[in-house]
Amino acid sequence: MTALREVRFPGRGLALVSPDADAAARLCAARFAEAARDAVEHRGRFAVALAGGSTPRRAYALLAEAPLAGEVPWEAVHLFWGDERCVPPGHPRSNYRMAREALLSRVPVPEGNVHRIRGELGRERAAAAYERALREAFGGDVPRFDLVHLGLGGDGHTASLFPYDPALRERRRLAVGALHEGEGRVTLTVPVLAAAARVEFLVTGEDKARRVAEVLARAPDPVRIPAQFVRPASGEPVWIVDEAAASGIRGAGQ
Ligand code: 6PG
Repeated sequence: MTALREVRFPGRGLALVSPDADAAARLCAARFAEAARDAVEHRGRFAVALAGGSTPRRAYALLAEAPLAGEVPWEAVHLFWGDERCVPPGHPRSNYRMAREALLSRVPVPEGNVHRIRGELGRERAAAAYERALREAFGGDVPRFDLVHLGLGGDGHTASLFPYDPALRERRRLAVGALHEGEGRVTLTVPVLAAAARVEFLVTGEDKARRVAEVLARAPDPVRIPAQFVRPASGEPVWIVDEAAASGIRGAGQ
């Protein structure tokens, strides 16, 4: 898979620009499969945190279809989530439900490898339970995901790290509760995102263009634009975007 074009923003990220949302989803899915094969070959398993919202659905569905479905060593894949809404797993707003419908119900990931955030417990109990699950799955103190998928909200949030939210300052816990427009959330914290080997954002649509430009090309202001906090161990996040979402960065970058 090749992107239409690459735009580098030194110290901020690498944008891979595809012609449209479907091409961006295909690139995202192909990169997931390549990361999974690489991690399993070198480390014996692939630990990935899935994104929520609506954008990733198409990419996750492509992973459940030929040819990619046959290229991922599903038995060695461990699925986590970057965040979850505090709703039951069958609720239409559940990020787990979206991934189950698009992907989990269609590929042979062992049930014990699916580490759902139990949002129905309420944000603090669910965050504590998820932290326990993370520490058990990764042994040490800060999990090192092979890949973290993220989206970008219209207000610059990512996962459930919202502008000016106290969760942005958490540096000890691995997961915390948040509240957004009256809805309880659970989110991975900044240190966990920073420890990831790879972080890849999938962002499409004209409505995200201004925020993409702010994150990549405007002055750093991560408390106002939480996506700017995401600086993975690999050094730079990858932004898989379509031309519409990249319309604000034309002529910027290198
Ligand atoms: C969530 C997500 C959130 C999402 C963005 C973009 O639970 O809502 O994790 O961070 O990625 O809000 O959402 P869309 O893909 O629906 O635009």
